[in-house]
Amino acid sequence: MLQGKVAIVTGAGRGLGRVEALELARLGARVVVNDLGTRADGSGKDEGPAEAVVEEIKKLGGEALAHFGDVADWNDAQALIRKAIDEFGELDILVNNAGFLRDRMLFNMSEEDFDSVIRVHLKGHFCTMRFATAYWREQSKAKGGPIYARLISTASEAFLFGSAGQPNYAAAKAGIVAMTMAAAQACLRYGVTANVICPRARTRMTDSGALGAIFAQPESGFDNFAPEHVTPLVGYLASPEAERISGQVFIIWGKQLTVVGRPSTDTRFENGDAWTVESLHKQLGPHFEKLEPVKDGFSVPAA
Ligand SMILES: NC(=O)c1ccc[n+]([C@@H]2O[C@H](COP(=O)([O-])OP(=O)(O)OC[C@H]3O[C@@H](n4cnc5c(N)ncnc54)[C@H](O)[C@@H]3O)[C@@H](O)[C@H]2O)c1
Repeated sequence: MLQGKVAIVTGAGRGLGRVEALELARLGARVVVNDLGTRADGSGKDEGPAEAVVEEIKKLGGEALAHFGDVADWNDAQALIRKAIDEFGELDILVNNAGFLRDRMLFNMSEEDFDSVIRVHLKGHFCTMRFATAYWREQSKAKGGPIYARLISTASEAFLFGSAGQPNYAAAKAGIVAMTMAAAQACLRYGVTANVICPRARTRMTDSGALGAIFAQPESGFDNFAPEHVTPLVGYLASPEAERISGQVFIIWGKQLTVVGRPSTDTRFENGDAWTVESLHKQLGPHFEKLEPVKDGFSVPAA
């Protein structure tokens, strides 16, 4: 399905990114495997994980190159996009996946925990999308019509309803969804589709603490949280067959695939005149009296 195409997968040295890169290569794509090689909290650097995945792809008969840059660094992100174009001759698919967690309750969170998580996820998606879409727009203008190009972003169900122990992460993921929707609208005319996946998988992000028990491998039967269950959707969205799918958000794990609907309005109130505090209370008071305050988001316990 992807024979001859060129793909970049960020954060592809481990976890979901690794199996996504392997799947794209299996489908015939030449893959740039980006990974800074950080520890689980985003600290440190290591070229080993990206190199190992490149070797894995080559052993399976595929073509791959490593890139060790930081996706949230403007120059590194530009160099990553250029590497695909200069060394493989083009770029067709960008899968943004890199990131890390610094889970804390809002009242315990440091400025560094907030900034670093927003930076790696939201700015990390922005920088690479910025340079990839500029290239695709140029290609489309030169051709005089739409080309074939695919953007796949990685969010999380944490963006949907909040996540009590992950205010930084939930906000970054909501930003990624909003930015990918903007990309979908701006770039469809150039032939670029842009979609978001919200995966669930057992990786080092989920294999310990309270999540570790939920994501644990079962002793027998179907393994819902094997990362490999996420990769067919990435391969499909990246393929020419998915050209009509853009601006969508998917939840994917196990044998389940959910298409997330657009946010919709709930109840509309009209007032005979401009609103006042009193008239708001008159209408909203009885309405919310029947409802509970929201307290059940997509919750991950944190320190
Ligand atoms: N595992 C899950 O259940 C789950 C659920 C929802 C969303 N996600 C998202 O999926 C993506 C992959 O997560 P994972 O579970 O595979 O985690 P992981 O820790 O196994 O892999 C993330 C990779 O990103 C790399 N990375 C970190 N910062 C980077 C940077 N600045 N530049 C380049 N690479 C960097 C790391 O070195 C690591 O190899 C993340 O965006 C995560 O938020 C995962």
